[in-house]
Amino acid sequence: MKFFLDTANLNEIREGASLGLADGVTTNPSLIAKEGDVDFKKHIAAICEIVQGPVSAEVTSQDKDGMVREGLEYSKIAPNVVIKCPLTRDGLKATRHLTDEGIRVNVTLCFSPAQAIVAAKAGAAFISPFLGRLDDIGENGLLLLQNIIEIYQNYPWKTEVLAASLRHPVHVIEAARMGADIATMPFKVIDQLFNHPLTDKGQTQFLADWAKSGRK
Ligand code: G3P
Repeated sequence: MKFFLDTANLNEIREGASLGLADGVTTNPSLIAKEGDVDFKKHIAAICEIVQGPVSAEVTSQDKDGMVREGLEYSKIAPNVVIKCPLTRDGLKATRHLTDEGIRVNVTLCFSPAQAIVAAKAGAAFISPFLGRLDDIGENGLLLLQNIIEIYQNYPWKTEVLAASLRHPVHVIEAARMGADIATMPFKVIDQLFNHPLTDKGQTQFLADWAKSGRK
């Protein structure tokens, strides 16, 4: 399973890359807004300098023509830019158009298996089911992920399943158990994945015993 960082923060992306845990990056308009008054295209270019893998840049137009125009423009930023389109009627049309032009599209805001099917049919390179946001409203995000993986296994579709809106390590572990192609997560979740109190306790004990034995 590939790990993407779900952030637009350059320090977090650098740290994730140095851990070997940044196979790609997903951004969205909210994550870009959190970085303050940055120039969008320059910021995406800066991310693409740190990470070799796919970097998602999301369109903000609501109509197909606007999305295609933005997609064509952003795809020129770097070869690893992937265009993120919303799972709307116009978003699907833009996905088909951009895909036919050889541009990879990450179809975002997916909340149902039906949506995942039409995104694959539109040629999406990635489908992003939002697990955490479904959990937030009392539905089961992991069940959605499982359904999409099961459906996609029936067909030779090339669309990769990108588990998104992950909030905690259990989301990541279960996505891996199900065989999701990619998990995108905030940096906080990366930290939660490897931190363990018994590791810290064991390390403290080892170092104390070493010092007590008089070794340097
Ligand atoms: O990048 C899309 C997605 O992962 C957003 O996550 O936590 O805002 O629901 P969240």
